[in-house]
Amino acid sequence: MIMIKEVAVNDVYPLRSKVLRPGQPIEACHYKEDSREGVFHLAASDKGAVIGIASFYPEQHPQFNDANSWRLRGMATDPEVRGQGLGLKLLQQGIRHCQARGATILWCNARTSAMPFYRKLNFEIYGDEFMIENIGPHYLMYYKY
Ligand SMILES: CC(C)(COP(=O)(O)OP(=O)(O)OC[C@H]1O[C@@H](n2cnc3c(N)ncnc32)[C@H](O)[C@@H]1OP(=O)(O)O)[C@@H](O)C(=O)NCCC(=O)NCCS
Repeated sequence: MIMIKEVAVNDVYPLRSKVLRPGQPIEACHYKEDSREGVFHLAASDKGAVIGIASFYPEQHPQFNDANSWRLRGMATDPEVRGQGLGLKLLQQGIRHCQARGATILWCNARTSAMPFYRKLNFEIYGDEFMIENIGPHYLMYYKY
C-alpha cells in the first residue's frame, strides 16, 4: 500500500539525489531553503521505501503578485514506478496541502521534459523557455487556485 505523507527533509534527500542530481555529491541536493520556516516535504512510500517526493516552499516569484505564494521543488518519482499515476497523486496532495495553508498560487521552474506532466494538473506556462546551468531547459509554470 502506497502512503503519501509529510516527512522530514532527510527522508527526501536519497531520491532527490538519485533522480534530480545523479552523479553529484549528496550535498548538491541540499537546497538552502529546505529548512526555512513553513517549508514542507511530501513523500510517497511503499513498504518503507520512498518512491516519490515533492517539496513546497512559501516563496514569491517576482512575476506574480500573490501574497500567499508557494513554490514546488524537488518533484520526482522513482524510475521503477513512473507512468502509474504516482506523480499526479503526489502533486495533487501537495496542491491541497498548500491550499490548506491559504495558497493562491503554486509555481515551479519546470524542466521542459516534465512540462507535459504539469500541464496534466492544469499548470500554465509563463513566458519563454529558459536555461538553468548544469540542469537544462525549463519553463516557469504556475497553478492558480
Ligand atoms: C515528472 C515525474 C515526477 C512524473 O512522475 P510519474 O510518476 O511518472 O507521473 P504519473 O505517472 O502520475 O504521470 C501522469 C501523467 O503525466 C504524463 N507524464 C508524466 N511525465 C511525463 C513526461 N515527462 N512527459 C510527458 N508526459 C508525462 C504521464 O504519461 C501521465 O499521463 P496519463 O495520465 O495520460 O497517463 C517523473 O517522470 C520524474 O521524476 N521525472 C524525472 C525528474 C523530473 O523531471 N522532475 C520534475 C522536475 S521539474
